[in-house]
Amino acid sequence: MSQRTYAPSTSTFAEDPDRYRKDGLHPLVIGDIINNGRYRIMHKLGSGSFATIWLCRDTSEHRYVSVKVLSGESSLDCKEIQILEAITTTTVAHKGREFVVQLLDHFVIDGPNGKHWCLVTKVAGSRLERKPGLPYNSLEWPRVASLQVAEALAFLHTLGIAHGDCYTSNVLFQLQYFDEWSEEEVYACMGQPNKHPVRRLDGQPRGGNAPEYTVDPGDVVALEQRLPTDKIILIDLGAAFYHGEDLDHIWTPAPHSAPEIVFGGDLTYQVDKWAFGCLLYELCADHTLVKLLFGWNNDAMKDQVAMLGKPPSALWKNWEARDKYFHPDGTPKEAQGRRLKVKPLPLKQRVMNLDKPLSERDYGTGDEAPLPPHLQDLYDLLEGIITYDAKARLSFDEILSHPFFSGARTPKI
Ligand SMILES: Nc1ncnc2c1ncn2[C@@H]1O[C@H](COP(=O)(O)OP(=O)(O)O)[C@@H](O)[C@H]1O
Ligand SMILES: [Mg+2]
Repeated sequence: MSQRTYAPSTSTFAEDPDRYRKDGLHPLVIGDIINNGRYRIMHKLGSGSFATIWLCRDTSEHRYVSVKVLSGESSLDCKEIQILEAITTTTVAHKGREFVVQLLDHFVIDGPNGKHWCLVTKVAGSRLERKPGLPYNSLEWPRVASLQVAEALAFLHTLGIAHGDCYTSNVLFQLQYFDEWSEEEVYACMGQPNKHPVRRLDGQPRGGNAPEYTVDPGDVVALEQRLPTDKIILIDLGAAFYHGEDLDHIWTPAPHSAPEIVFGGDLTYQVDKWAFGCLLYELCADHTLVKLLFGWNNDAMKDQVAMLGKPPSALWKNWEARDKYFHPDGTPKEAQGRRLKVKPLPLKQRVMNLDKPLSERDYGTGDEAPLPPHLQDLYDLLEGIITYDAKARLSFDEILSHPFFSGARTPKI
């Protein structure tokens, strides 16, 4: 294991200071000015695997913006920017366009850790979730929100682009009237930046590679409560790709990863449909469709088999550990040692469970009880998307015109 340079952060919300190194993150602190004086760093919005995301004051346009500063290792012909530019400049008219992030500006910072692309977009609120306080079996809000996500994905697909990482952390709420706020109001709502000094473990001076301190993200939930909308915005084109591209891997968290990602099959834009099905279910259920004990692909494969049964041999043969958990016909093996028996929980039972409070959701009796009518449409839609056979998944037109969405209207800001 490589040795740490800096002491680990005392905050679980700020990025690890050790990520500030050659080819890593670019050191920035509150008040820094980037891009020839245009953007002033005001607060933190988040950090991801390859970036820090900052709330900035755009002093030219007198507005607030989000600036995603990519790490130094991202290549100089940055695909995320190319794809964002394609999305922003297209003349294609599509309903889903207003639900996909647009690029306002981009530039490069040449810093001590390398060259960093910076992507400027509108500021959005907190991540998509089942709204607190909804009755456990209410499907109305999930219907409205997921329809917008489907529109957004359909728009991307019209452009020949797949998102590749469509899950709740990459879908935020849009904000309204934010630009009318003074800076004092912004801080009063999001809180003052919480700073955590960066210290070298060997006691030497910090040097220029790391910032003086790391910063926790500001309170975007509070921000959004003050400026609420029912409109969503799909962000983070970091894993996006073009239809027909030859891919080795798609980096998306295991619970939302399609079977062809976790088992190892042909990777195509169809992964977005599976991810959409997971997101839709998650909004209805308040927990993920595929349940993982740990975050590992192995757990995702176990639960996908528990949900859909044995996959086609093209996928099944790629899973080396399959014999540990399943007989050759895909039925679960008995528990052994510390290994638990996988319990089948078919998709239909997962949908049936939505009619019960969280604590009463169960594995069912195995009898094919009919679904209550209000869940039948949802099940029918999910059944058309949550399939091992990627090519068999419903088309975006079929998804958007599915009876589950009839009556759901796109909200107006
Ligand atoms: N425009 C934005 N407005 C508000 N918060 C944002 C914005 N863009 C990103 N964030 C926050 O930063 C996090 C990481 O950004 P993202 O673009 O998803 O980076 P990564 O590619 O590292 O996942 C998001 O999950 C979100 O919390
Ligand atoms: Mg992300």
